Amino acid sequence: MMLATVGLSKYFPIRGTLIGRMMLKAVDDVSIKIQENRIVGLVGESGSGKSTLGRALLRLLEPTSGDVLFNIPDEELAIYERAQAANDTAKLHEIREKYSLLRKSTAEMRRLRREMNIVFQDPYSSLNPRMRLVDVISEPMLSTGFCTRDEADERVFDLLRDVGLPRFFEDRYPHELSGGQRQRVAIARAISTYPKLLILDEPTSALDVSVQAQILNLLRGLRDKYGISMLLITHNVAVVAYLAAKVYVMYAGKIMEWGDRDKVLRDHHAAHRMSIPSEVSGGVRDLRVDRGGSRGRPGVPPPRKVLRHVWRGGECSPGSGANDRHRGSRRCGENPRARRPRERRRPQPEGDRVDRTEERRSRRTAL
Ligand SMILES: Nc1ncnc2c1ncn2[C@@H]1O[C@H](COP(=O)(O)OP(=O)(O)O)[C@@H](O)[C@H]1O
Ligand SMILES: [Mg+2]
Repeated sequence: MMLATVGLSKYFPIRGTLIGRMMLKAVDDVSIKIQENRIVGLVGESGSGKSTLGRALLRLLEPTSGDVLFNIPDEELAIYERAQAANDTAKLHEIREKYSLLRKSTAEMRRLRREMNIVFQDPYSSLNPRMRLVDVISEPMLSTGFCTRDEADERVFDLLRDVGLPRFFEDRYPHELSGGQRQRVAIARAISTYPKLLILDEPTSALDVSVQAQILNLLRGLRDKYGISMLLITHNVAVVAYLAAKVYVMYAGKIMEWGDRDKVLRDHHAAHRMSIPSEVSGGVRDLRVDRGGSRGRPGVPPPRKVLRHVWRGGECSPGSGANDRHRGSRRCGENPRARRPRERRRPQPEGDRVDRTEERRSRRTAL
């Protein structure tokens, strides 16, 4: 098994409460397995704990409890599970010492980082804007001691080719690239040390629909070429359906469903637990429902207000949507506190008036 978590949890203290009293259970007792050379999907609505889990797997966030066993042979994992059932602490300790990422020292983790990497959702913020692409891509090779600078420079050409970018891109800066090209660079960087495991956190969510399929095909090609195991984190069931063989469905920090893709995606329970009526999404269930930062409870639908934002402008996230409209409407040099007189609307001539009721209704059903 490439990676197995056992009862992994990550809690965050909730600010404003007495220290240690209230904890947000972002990931709660999660056990997942990722086989060698497989793409495993992790779906769930926004805020369900997917990114926290992805980061905890690589110890980019220190888990609160549980275990992460990396590159453990299946027989040893079976022994571990038996020892757990029998409460055989000596055996558990022995296996943990060998395979648990949480037992590794900083130096060991640095070396192990060659074997695992992560691609983040937003290629605009995940690449350092001051670095040329050659430096961006070779950074993991140098920081983990994978090779020398000269070797890294040489390898950048191969990596650019692997992700479908021309050689001369090595001298460019991230701002000179499109979103899709940036994500290709992020992928080149992530695979630069021949990792065995790649965590992909919403790798296509920030991209145009037309580019999304190209990136997904690229990932599939890299899996076939290098035999990389991947955990594909997404809110988009269509993305998982396209690439993953096995799927975990996460909700409110816990794994609610898991199994073969076809079984899980056909299963109506998942849709009900996500509180999304299947007719709204027309068969393909897009789990992107923002609860405005609040934690959802199974079976409780999100507030209507939040859903309205989702209908109107895609995602409802800080810095986009409704707030931006207010920000944009303020004129330069104007006192923001002063109230502007409301513009009087001129009555439209009868012929020009458009009945928008139908349009609004169809937009709602489309989402
Ligand atoms: N560093 C953090 N500190 C406190 N709370 C966090 C932190 N990171 C994530 N959370 C909270 O954990 C929950 C899960 O977040 P996240 O893992 O980002 O969800 P997802 O990736 O599924 O959208 C959210 O309620 C979020 O507010
Ligand atoms: Mg996330």
